[in-house]
Amino acid sequence: MENVNLEGHIGAQCANWAGLAPEKRVLNSQQMDPVVYREAMSRYAGHVQVVTTEYEGVRRGVTITAACSVSDRPPSLLVCLNNNNANNSVFFESGFFALNTLGAHHQALANAFAGFGGLPVEDRFALGEWQTLSTGAPVLSDAIVSFDCRVTDRKVTATHTVLFGEVKAVHFGRQEASLIYLDRGYRTL
Ligand SMILES: Cc1cc2nc3c(=O)[nH]c(=O)nc-3n(C[C@H](O)[C@H](O)[C@H](O)COP(=O)(O)O)c2cc1C
Repeated sequence: MENVNLEGHIGAQCANWAGLAPEKRVLNSQQMDPVVYREAMSRYAGHVQVVTTEYEGVRRGVTITAACSVSDRPPSLLVCLNNNNANNSVFFESGFFALNTLGAHHQALANAFAGFGGLPVEDRFALGEWQTLSTGAPVLSDAIVSFDCRVTDRKVTATHTVLFGEVKAVHFGRQEASLIYLDRGYRTL
């Protein structure tokens, strides 16, 4: 999505927004809509990751930023996957996934697994080298780090399913620049 003119978008509800000091710029729930929320989230940097799984011989990978650590006892993390994408059902069947943390040189891979260019699934996987560790989920050999997880819990929300995974193996790749998504574009850090 293109950059949003937030002042213009909320103008009818909050005519003097532009004149307000930044610390006074608060929108309440009546003023909140998906455009406002996405604009707010565009200011939130996320590490770009590819979450992968395999079920009955079908591999699936999705570029995500919605992932975070949950605990170190037991080592566990969560990922959020869109329920409205029927292709994501593989994740809800398999019972395991790998979270692969991307580096600066993985931009083409990130685009492919975001569906840009419309490549068939196996052509997307052909952009990287993959191995398996404990669960059988595809692990990207040159990811900065990969977490191989068994699903322990799930929470279905309106649009997304949160999968909780217990980390069964970690693969440490090279420590190099990270691929970050911020302000609707890739950055490296
Ligand atoms: C930077 C970025 C972050 C994304 N984060 C998520 C996410 O956290 N969860 C999700 O379900 N989809 C996310 N997506 C969208 C999926 O990558 C995309 O819908 C999916 O891979 C499309 O694949 P398909 O064409 O095979 O259905 C993100 C896309 C991009 C470009």
